Formats: sequence, C-alpha cells, structure tokens
Amino acid sequence: MTDLEPPIEVLFGVPDIDDLPGALADTYGGGLALPEAVVYANFISSIDGIVAIAGERASSSAISGRDPGDRFVMALLRAAADVVLIGAGTFRRHRGPWTASASYPDAEAAFDEYRRSEGRAPIPRLAIVTASGKVEEGRAAIDGALVLTTERGAASVPADVRARAEVAVLGGGDRLVGSDVVDALRARGFRRILTEGGPHLMKDLLVARAVEQLFLSVSPVLAGGGERAGDRSNLLPGVAFLPEQRLTGTLRSARRRGSFLFLRYELETDGAG
Ligand SMILES: NC(=O)c1ccc[n+]([C@@H]2O[C@H](COP(=O)([O-])OP(=O)(O)OC[C@H]3O[C@@H](n4cnc5c(N)ncnc54)[C@H](OP(=O)(O)O)[C@@H]3O)[C@@H](O)[C@H]2O)c1
Repeated sequence: MTDLEPPIEVLFGVPDIDDLPGALADTYGGGLALPEAVVYANFISSIDGIVAIAGERASSSAISGRDPGDRFVMALLRAAADVVLIGAGTFRRHRGPWTASASYPDAEAAFDEYRRSEGRAPIPRLAIVTASGKVEEGRAAIDGALVLTTERGAASVPADVRARAEVAVLGGGDRLVGSDVVDALRARGFRRILTEGGPHLMKDLLVARAVEQLFLSVSPVLAGGGERAGDRSNLLPGVAFLPEQRLTGTLRSARRRGSFLFLRYELETDGAG
C-alpha cells in the first residue's frame, strides 16, 4: 500500500498481470498492462468535458482540485513512461518536473523501484512541442529536455534553452504534424510515450490518430462552457469530428475513488502502431 486511503476501487477491467510493485498494485487495484511500445495520454476532465480554462495558470489543477487519487494515477502513468510529451502552453503554465514523484511524492520509493524493475531511466525524458520556439529560460525542468520545433521556431529558441536541452527541427510548416512528433520520439528510441497535452497538442495527436490509449479522469465538477469562444477547451479545440468523422474508443477499464472516475480507453489509430 501507498498512503492513498482509501485506495482506488476497480469497477471492471483488472488485467491478469503482475507488473507493478506490490504497493502500487494494491493502491491501483491490480496491474497496469501497458504495451512496451505505446502512445498514451492522460487528462483530467470536468463532468461536462472541459480540460482547460483560459486565464487559469494551471487549469488542470482547478479541475482536479489536486485530488490525491488523480495525483496517484498521473504519477503511475509517468512512472511507466520513457518520455513525457507536452505542448509549450502546458510547459509555460506548470512548474514541473514531469516526474512521478513530483505528482505523488509519498510513493516515490515505489515508483523508483517500478522504473528500476522495468529497466527504465530514473526519470522520463521531457519533450516539449513549440511552433514559436519561445520556451521560457531559466527553468529547472528544461535540463536534458528535448524541444521539438519548426524551422522558424528554432531560430527563436533562447540560448539558455539551447545550452541545456536538445533542439530538434521537425519541419518547415507553421505547426508540427502529430504523427511526425511521435515518429521523432520513436526514432530516438522512446517506446512508452506519455502525453499530458495540453489540449492543442492533444488535438494534433488525435487528428493524426496517433494516440492509442487515453486515460481519462473525470472530476466531479461542472466547469461551464465559458462566455466567449475559446474560454474553455475540451480535448479537441477547434476541431469537428462528428458527424462526418467517427473516432471511437473501447472502454478497457473503469476505476473510482470517491466521486472521481478513472477511465481507460483504447482509441482507434491509423494502424501505424
Ligand atoms: N486537463 C488536463 O489534464 C490538462 C493537461 C495539460 C494541460 N492542461 C491545461 O491546458 C492549458 C494549456 O492549454 P494549451 O492548449 O495552451 O496547451 P498546449 O497544447 O500544451 O500548448 C499549446 C502550445 O503548444 C505548442 N504546440 C502544441 N501543438 C503543437 C504543434 N502541433 N506544433 C507546434 N507547436 C505546438 C504551441 O506552442 P507555441 O505557442 O510556443 O508555438 C502552442 O501554442 C493549461 O491551463 C493547462 O493546465 C490541462
């Protein structure tokens, strides 16, 4: 057990696999059973599907209320990752680091043991996607990170960031294509790719059908749609799938802790795997 009391309750979908250290399995309610090579996403949403609130510095925290169960799930998913992929907007609004122990410090030893047992580096690499190249200087979380940008963006990456991170140019367009981002990470040997968004990056990954699993935590709050367009965002800002396009998910497991739901969907992909 970790100190998460009560632990997370499994409603259905316990994988028959023993792939987590005992303390983590007891708290999560069984194994994780993530494929060794997978692109997976973790988001917290309000009941009405809002994941980001413009003007809020860290709107995910506003939505989750920093619920310990959600913090634990976020930490576990980071502990399983080779790389955590985020957009520059999320980097600007959150301090980081994007590690398991930063999300749930009380289980640090168990997360470390899990990573060691799976032969992973002590912490996942951070990858930041930016079109503008305007990645804030002087941030500890940038050390050793990978900055993925456009030709134009590369010219604006500050010298401090260049000195402390690796900068990779992925194309000459205005934005990076979601599948190119994933390909660039795979080409560097990252197999378990976790994205924590935010919504604009997630939209590009979903449009490319590049996300294989979505871990969606539903916080028991109603956020409201906002008074003006762009005030609030769901997972696909500025995109209309239905009714023309249907991207479906298969529910693989459901968990709860109190009134928080932790859903795991397998999403249709382009088959490139
Ligand atoms: N609910 C959740 O679980 C969750 C998770 C993460 C974040 N959030 C919230 O989301 C909010 C931030 O939203 P956001 O949409 O701004 O986040 P974001 O997607 O992390 O950031 C958007 C920025 O990332 C860069 N970017 C994203 N996709 C790109 C692409 N395909 N090519 C080139 N650059 C790309 C661009 O950076 P440049 O501006 O540098 O060009 C873009 O302006 C925060 O309040 C945060 O708390 C919520």
